[in-house]
Amino acid sequence: MSSLNPYAAAHENPQGEGDARPTALQIVHDEGLVNKMSDKVIMVTGSSSGLGIETVRALHATGAHIFMHVRDMKKGQQVLEEILATSEGKGKLELLPMELDSFKSIRAGAAEFLKKSNKLNVLVNNAGKYSLRAEPQELTDNVKASATHQKEPQSTASKHNSAPTTSATSSSSTSSSRPSSPPAHQPSTPAS
Ligand SMILES: NC(=O)c1ccc[n+]([C@@H]2O[C@H](COP(=O)([O-])OP(=O)(O)OC[C@H]3O[C@@H](n4cnc5c(N)ncnc54)[C@H](OP(=O)(O)O)[C@@H]3O)[C@@H](O)[C@H]2O)c1
Repeated sequence: MSSLNPYAAAHENPQGEGDARPTALQIVHDEGLVNKMSDKVIMVTGSSSGLGIETVRALHATGAHIFMHVRDMKKGQQVLEEILATSEGKGKLELLPMELDSFKSIRAGAAEFLKKSNKLNVLVNNAGKYSLRAEPQELTDNVKASATHQKEPQSTASKHNSAPTTSATSSSSTSSSRPSSPPAHQPSTPAS
């Protein structure tokens, strides 16, 4: 086993879910980090589904105080209880509601966070939505206003790119760095 990458062999022949590749929780165990990060405060956006759930599960095992950002409190509460039922972590786990496509909701969520903690050691920007053809009605308040403001007159926009291509939520760096067609406000061919 290489000390530089102890998991290299496990990645040589991937077999899908449940294969030899380590989960985040396994890495926390392997690194001897269970309840070793009790002085840390961590927030994970989009904690109510998919990768967010597993990220919270692993980070909570470190003993850190975790804020689970969610937009649906009922769904978030179910996930929180499911994680707590098996977690070895002794840190607090709490929900923080925010709609990330609304600046009003983001500001309210940030204010709520500041009432509960005076520090944030780690922010995991996991929540995200990626769409090549987000329709204007999917956007809300400030984001919608901003998209409308940026839209150029129809004469310069490509026919096939007439809908805004910006994601309603792009809190994840991965979502904003994925390849996409040109934004609606740019001509499809570069100006000479
Ligand atoms: N899964 C992959 O293979 C993969 C590959 C590359 C990159 N990624 C990126 O990794 C991140 C997580 O992926 P995933 O597959 O775990 O996604 P997912 O299961 O769809 O979970 C996305 C999370 O973001 C939340 N969310 C979405 N829009 C939101 C909004 N406007 N306001 C607040 N919360 C919002 C969702 O809340 P709800 O539960 O309420 O819907 C959910 O908790 C995404 O940024 C995705 O682009 C994923």
